[in-house]
Amino acid sequence: MNAIIPPSPWLLAHAAQLPRRGCILDLACGRGRHLRWLAEYRAAAVASEELRFLAVDRDSAALQSLAGLPGVSTRCCDLEGENWPLAGERFAAVIVTNYLWRPRFDALLALLAPAGVLVYETFMQGNAAYGKPSRPDFLLQPGELRARCGAAGLQEIAFAEGYVEQPRPAVRQAIVARRVSG
Ligand SMILES: C[S@@+](CC[C@H](N)C(=O)[O-])C[C@H]1O[C@@H](n2cnc3c(N)ncnc32)[C@H](O)[C@@H]1O
Repeated sequence: MNAIIPPSPWLLAHAAQLPRRGCILDLACGRGRHLRWLAEYRAAAVASEELRFLAVDRDSAALQSLAGLPGVSTRCCDLEGENWPLAGERFAAVIVTNYLWRPRFDALLALLAPAGVLVYETFMQGNAAYGKPSRPDFLLQPGELRARCGAAGLQEIAFAEGYVEQPRPAVRQAIVARRVSG
């Protein structure tokens, strides 16, 4: 069985921005390292059933590893197929790390409820010098998260891009943003 890798430093640094109520979606969650950490971090809110989580991925074995975790539901689906499996749903927060599928980016932002918080972090242009991903489809352009969130009317809370040493040398981009209106 694969070990669970630690949560992203970006998520840890901005976890206080995440809501204590409602449902937090981890999109393309893998083995759910972020929901595992958040379930502990917000244990009181989970215990009182004010906070819950939805873990979405196409990898059913990865999702199964989350079975029994308090407050966590899982959904196995294809996020890149013809039908968008989350159509019409709204979440208090959406977390996306190490995943990019541009054709559904606007649909992803539409998942944020009013006051909903987006935490997004993945690789960007320049990462090929350090390893994978190296395909342009999987690498953000400079400033892309900022531009996309701005165009969707989200309020930026934090943004960073460039070379990072941890968790391994890479070129990454990250944002925390909030939907201020309906
Ligand atoms: C690099 S992993 C990142 C996992 C997690 N977000 C993290 O940072 O630990 C990418 C994840 O995207 C999922 N994924 C890739 N394509 C997908 C698709 N079409 N539909 C749903 N999940 C997909 C994979 O199964 C994998 O778990």
